[in-house]
Amino acid sequence: MHFGRICRLLIATVTFTSAQTQSSKRGLIFIPNSKYPEDNQIWVQSDSDLTWYYNYGASPSPAFSSVSQDDFEFVPMLWGTVDDTSFLDTVQSLVDSGRNITHVLGFNEPDAATTDGGGSSIDPATAADVWVKNIAPLSEQGIKLGLPACTGGWGGIPWLQQFLGNCSALISNDTQTRNCSYDFVNIHWYGNFEGLASHLGSYSAAFPNVTQWITEYNYDNQDLATTQNFYNTSAEYFDRLDSVGRYSYFGSFRSDDSNVGANAVMLNNDGELTDIGSWYLGGSATGVDPQSAAGGFRVHVLLLCVFFVTTSIGLLY
Ligand SMILES: *[C@@H]1O[C@H](CO)[C@@H](O)[C@H](O)[C@H]1NC(C)=O
Ligand SMILES: *[C@@H]1O[C@H](CO)[C@@H](O)[C@H](O)[C@H]1NC(C)=O
Ligand SMILES: *[C@@H]1O[C@H](CO)[C@@H](O)[C@H](O)[C@H]1NC(C)=O
Ligand SMILES: *[C@@H]1O[C@H](CO)[C@@H](O)[C@H](O)[C@H]1NC(C)=O
Ligand SMILES: *[C@@H]1O[C@H](CO)[C@@H](O)[C@H](O)[C@H]1NC(C)=O
Ligand SMILES: *[C@@H]1O[C@H](CO)[C@@H](O)[C@H](O)[C@H]1NC(C)=O
Repeated sequence: MHFGRICRLLIATVTFTSAQTQSSKRGLIFIPNSKYPEDNQIWVQSDSDLTWYYNYGASPSPAFSSVSQDDFEFVPMLWGTVDDTSFLDTVQSLVDSGRNITHVLGFNEPDAATTDGGGSSIDPATAADVWVKNIAPLSEQGIKLGLPACTGGWGGIPWLQQFLGNCSALISNDTQTRNCSYDFVNIHWYGNFEGLASHLGSYSAAFPNVTQWITEYNYDNQDLATTQNFYNTSAEYFDRLDSVGRYSYFGSFRSDDSNVGANAVMLNNDGELTDIGSWYLGGSATGVDPQSAAGGFRVHVLLLCVFFVTTSIGLLY
């Protein structure tokens, strides 16, 4: 093929790639990059579709201090156990300082056997005690409470049932009016789309008519086509279901930093948005290979195009 034609096709591909989808349900799981802090700002660029974020912690991320809270809502999470009311106190001080906190998230993967994979590994009785002291009181001021986010494993729902059982027992002795009510469930899933849909079904059966947030999900360690196909199918599904309140894709990091496989990421090793990264933010495909880095094929072709066009113009005159 004539090289000029390749250039035109390439430019056309970059410019006109397909209908992207947009969704106000999408949020960011923020894992700050201290080595390449410029990556932290990609998620809040002006055309980003993301409306909210969480960072596994109680306090907002300094990286977003200059971003309007109304455009990018912070959702606090109580990651693991605390032996005081520090989580409640921190959220209360955010509210007192004027921050609009509308939702909080319960523990992160408390049903994990160990903390090696980021889970908090707490027994249901302890978690209930911590919840009653730190999270239950927040509902009294209208903040919506998300049940603990268990792993996608078989033990997640039984863990939650034991947690709620303990919570009720604690509350029945409590002279205060608070109870163990919750407003939404938090779901994690790593696996294929059929498994994801089935997992959401298990939660619907265990917690009927409760809004679902999918706060970590991916089809980890797959080839790029399989990963993209999963991304598209699940995003379309979440956007369509009224029962899904919000969702956040794992992960917002570079391929070399990934613990869910090299193709599951939203950034390549130069900090450029991959196709999935761009789609998630409401944009078009970028054609960026997740595993590529500086000097990759795409950069070379673009440079060659610039050279070709410049030389062609030169030849005309
Ligand atoms: C807080 O945020 C929610 C959801 O984004 C919005 O509906 C509500 O109006 C906000 N409240 C204030 C006081 O800004
Ligand atoms: C409370 O949690 C413990 C494990 O921490 C569990 O053995 C027990 O069955 C739970 N109680 C209720 C009432 O669910
Ligand atoms: C509730 O109170 C009863 C009676 O004081 C006590 O025996 C029981 O251990 C208490 N339960 C919890 C979960 O604190
Ligand atoms: C729990 O408390 C909330 C308000 O604090 C109330 O709206 C709800 O009806 C209560 N639920 C139960 C089961 O008592
Ligand atoms: C709860 O049930 C009502 C009535 O069937 C339905 O309109 C609503 O969407 C359901 N909510 C969730 C979160 O499933
Ligand atoms: C994913 O969706 C985008 C449009 O949003 C489309 O361009 C792309 O071909 C789809 N990819 C797969 C693998 O379905």
